[in-house]
Amino acid sequence: MKALRWHSPHHVTVDNVPDPTLQESRDVIVKVSLTAICGSDLHLYDGYIPAMKSGDILGHEFMGEVVEVGNAITTLKKGDRVTVPFDIACGTCHYCTHELFSLCDNSNPDKKVAEELYGYSGGGLFGYSHIYGGYAGGQAEFVRVPYADVSPLIIPAGISDEQALFLTDVFPTGYMAAENCNIQPDDVVAVFGCGPVGQFAIQSAYLLGASRVIAIDRVPERLAMARELGHAETIDYTEQKDIVQAIKDATNGRGPNAVIDAVGMEAHGTGVMGALDKARQVAHIESDRPTALRLLIQACGKGGTVSIPGVYGGFIDEMPMGAAFAKGLTFKMGQTHVQRYQKKLLQYIQDGKIDPSQIITHRVALADGPDMYKIFKEKKDNCIKVVMKP
Ligand SMILES: NC(=O)c1ccc[n+]([C@@H]2O[C@H](COP(=O)([O-])OP(=O)(O)OC[C@H]3O[C@@H](n4cnc5c(N)ncnc54)[C@H](O)[C@@H]3O)[C@@H](O)[C@H]2O)c1
Ligand SMILES: [Zn+2]
Ligand SMILES: [Zn+2]
Repeated sequence: MKALRWHSPHHVTVDNVPDPTLQESRDVIVKVSLTAICGSDLHLYDGYIPAMKSGDILGHEFMGEVVEVGNAITTLKKGDRVTVPFDIACGTCHYCTHELFSLCDNSNPDKKVAEELYGYSGGGLFGYSHIYGGYAGGQAEFVRVPYADVSPLIIPAGISDEQALFLTDVFPTGYMAAENCNIQPDDVVAVFGCGPVGQFAIQSAYLLGASRVIAIDRVPERLAMARELGHAETIDYTEQKDIVQAIKDATNGRGPNAVIDAVGMEAHGTGVMGALDKARQVAHIESDRPTALRLLIQACGKGGTVSIPGVYGGFIDEMPMGAAFAKGLTFKMGQTHVQRYQKKLLQYIQDGKIDPSQIITHRVALADGPDMYKIFKEKKDNCIKVVMKP
């Protein structure tokens, strides 16, 4: 089959590789009908997530048709059209039974690496390095899906692939980020980053009852989408001398009740701190660029919540711990527990409350994937979300 593989930073190619086969009785094989490139893939593309090996198949946002079914699977049959959550969950461990699916204790065979880095290991993820299990990803013609009695969601007729695909990651991720804000009526939420995760965080914040959402980015078409699709008020941070003051001014001096970091470890900065973070990350002195994170902690109002869907991998400098403490902030973060949200969010789509396909800007063949990684990374051609057909 054809699959998009990582070889080294900025070097990905579409290659012929052996088809995946059933390995365990709870496996299924899915023939991929649609797959997307995620902002998280850029962290791999740019070489900031450790433990990638040359030849690893990328991709954790994918859906398709079940074509082979392991002996133990009774919940799926050949021909079912499914979305597959990016986080792999066994369904029976302490974490899975407490709906903390992305923290599954059994799905990561490479636990040792993560335990050394983080104390404990998260669960396995598709196409996301050997810290997260080294599973082959879904930017391919076929994928092996382990524990397939737990996660895949059968998509009913009447919902298109493009509408369903983002149930695998970015829609639940934006939703969990908003849910983590514990939104009360009249709350104001500020969302840093207007990529796909930011767009779904904005829309989800309104679904959960926020009265105002303020969205921050610097890319004009992403800010435009936040306004037009998400009905957010927007601020281009590069036009502000002081983004924290601008957010304060926009909220009667009180600041937002919650702030969402939909930027993550590759934030762009302005000024001295931005340049310093970039230099330190390139020199591997600092693993992540917390340029947006610092600002949004500063911008968050007293007693507020900082919700962090943006991915961080290691250690950050100049964390404003004093500000977080003095203002009594609550922090919530982590990989999304997709399985916890997918049915509810499918219902939102069926009820016409949201159409996730509206964020798609590029529809290409898998063979165009390597070019699209570059275009998406460089935010060329008004690119916000790429979907690929194998
Ligand atoms: N927690 C999870 O389970 C999960 C799932 C999916 C994605 N993510 C993470 O969420 C983050 C966003 O993903 P995405 O797909 O939307 O990626 P993306 O790269 O398309 O979006 C990031 C956005 O942040 C903006 N940005 C950069 N610096 C900024 C700054 N200083 N202030 C404000 N905005 C700034 C960029 O212009 C861009 O629009 C990534 O870190 C990704 O890894 C996490
Ligand atoms: Zn993702
Ligand atoms: Zn588990």
